[in-house]
Amino acid sequence: MKVLASAPGKVTLFGEHAVVYGYPALVVAIERRVYAFAESREDNVIKISAKDLRVPGIVISYIGSEVVLETDYGMVLPAIAYINKAIELTSKYLGSRKGVNIEIKSEMPVGAGLGTSAAVAISTIAAYAVANGHSLDKEEIARIGWEVEKEVQGIASPMDTSITSLGGYLRIKYGKSTVERARLNVGTELPLIIGYVEREAKTKDMVAMVRERLERYPDIYSDIMKLIGQVVSRAEGSLLSGDLSELGFLMNLNHSLLDALGVSTRRLNELVNVARDSGAYGAKLTGAGGGGCVIALVPEKGEVVETAMRLHGSMVMRTKLGAEGVRIERTE
Ligand code: PMV
Repeated sequence: MKVLASAPGKVTLFGEHAVVYGYPALVVAIERRVYAFAESREDNVIKISAKDLRVPGIVISYIGSEVVLETDYGMVLPAIAYINKAIELTSKYLGSRKGVNIEIKSEMPVGAGLGTSAAVAISTIAAYAVANGHSLDKEEIARIGWEVEKEVQGIASPMDTSITSLGGYLRIKYGKSTVERARLNVGTELPLIIGYVEREAKTKDMVAMVRERLERYPDIYSDIMKLIGQVVSRAEGSLLSGDLSELGFLMNLNHSLLDALGVSTRRLNELVNVARDSGAYGAKLTGAGGGGCVIALVPEKGEVVETAMRLHGSMVMRTKLGAEGVRIERTE
């Protein structure tokens, strides 16, 4: 049997990092998807191939007469770990393990902070389950996906796996034994531009770094987390009422607090400032930080901001927001 499943990427509008400590976050699925193709096998072998996992960052340095080429390929290998774990945990959940060929393709760069790891895990779970003769609902897929992220990353909130499973816009908050998810009915399309600069650190390391600081300076860092939570609560109202200028202001505030947590970088701060200076209502890093993506909320078409961000050397992406969650594209 052959199955093609897909799951969308995401951007975190507000509340990354603080979500790990029980505060709410607002997140939206984007119309860039990861595709998992599963083909069942007669034997017990699991074969994984990852093609076209867009790897954007290439740095060419001249050291004396030597030319050194570095890429973000380091981000590709971890993606494979999510596929392996997704098959292992889905087999366990279904109580049956079958041989399968899995092939992954992505319409967005992996490891950039757009939730590709979760989309890889979630689309693999959906495709593998069907190839294995079962079909899982979105809630089940989201739950297995979260376990995959936790096992591969160590610490992970259910944010990415929830949004890529369910799609749309979500407010998400979780505690020791609860996950609260609320769908947000955002009426108007948000004029967002996504800019990407090379990633200097992985999500896992950024989350661990924040945890260390929180343990070392609990009084200071827990207050920063609390402030992020307050920004998120205000932002939800402005998102629902479509107040772009307030949303922009709150994005700026959220970015400053993320910078205070230590997860921004000079390049990210520069890109945020370039977007603001060229007319954006507001801009912030999105995702774990340490490089990766910035989102800018722009007036109307936002060409000036887009050009300024490109000139600054970032890769720029425009995409529709509120995409559908995981789905089976076809079976043969
Ligand atoms: O960079 P991403 O897309 O993996 O986002 C990480 C978001 C964090 O809040 C930093 C971690 C988490 O698990 O929620």
